Amino acid sequence: MVNTQVHIGTLALKNPVLVASGTFGYGDDCRDLVDVNELGGIITKSLSLKPREGNPPTRIVETPSGMLNSIGLANIGAQKFIEEKLPFLRTLSTAVVANIAASTIEEYCTVLSMLEEQEGIDGYEINVSCPNVKEGGLSFGANCKMTAEITRRLRKLTKKTLILKLTPNVTHISEFAHAVADEGADAVSVINTVIGMAVDVRKRKPKLSTVTGGLSGPAIKPIALAKVYEVAQSVKIPIIGIGGIMNVDDAIEFLLVGATAVQIGTANFIDPSAGVTIAHGIQAYCEQQHISEVSQLVGALQSSKELSAISSWL
Ligand code: DHB
Repeated sequence: MVNTQVHIGTLALKNPVLVASGTFGYGDDCRDLVDVNELGGIITKSLSLKPREGNPPTRIVETPSGMLNSIGLANIGAQKFIEEKLPFLRTLSTAVVANIAASTIEEYCTVLSMLEEQEGIDGYEINVSCPNVKEGGLSFGANCKMTAEITRRLRKLTKKTLILKLTPNVTHISEFAHAVADEGADAVSVINTVIGMAVDVRKRKPKLSTVTGGLSGPAIKPIALAKVYEVAQSVKIPIIGIGGIMNVDDAIEFLLVGATAVQIGTANFIDPSAGVTIAHGIQAYCEQQHISEVSQLVGALQSSKELSAISSWL
């Protein structure tokens, strides 16, 4: 028997596989397609104080190796989430992490406080890295002092697991990880989407209504791995690896470079049961490799002279 449990802050996940925010709705859309209780956890679509319509179309574009999106944080708002979605989530035996997005620090605090009064939420993932909104989003997440301040304020409001979702669209992501760890964050999610663009050559116009959007999927996996590796060298708090994970080997790569858990995002749009398949695959990998605990894989990359030389560049 393999022990697949991993710990993120106060949260014990039954396995290291979560579904990423914005790729699994509020956990109820896929209830008839997949046994969500076999996941380590569900991260909700970003919740804001007021409902948001999101950006005008076109807001999703396929690329050869992933997708570009500019949804603009469309969501039903925190109150409706509490009334209409949380009752179902409460019935689950998997971890429920509420993702929060906001355009001011006060709004982050208000939404977290509203959710904090409710039963059934195990932790929070703070989206300071949406590339598709004018206020908040990257204007917070690309500013290290602001990201630290948001963490400091939110830490005072909850003892539950607090995760900051970091953007790769900065020079040194590890500085951000360091800053939020210093302010008491329990973990970081690494990485959010990479800013990208696509052009319709017949119309000579950007394909997305907002011109640029967030690139996800296999195209960004090597970037994400390098960022997780960089962050793992500089902070002690757990890292949740995310970026282009499509299969079990992809997930194991993230664990080996230092992620304690992983999130499955774009793969859910192809197959909503991808996360469950990957969770089973990690267990099978451990059995084949005679590894008794998944946590033994975390950062277990074989070290070599080349590796330590490269680490010194980071
Ligand atoms: C959106 C939010 C994100 O954090 C992201 O990476 C991409 C898109 C959005 O809702 O637009």
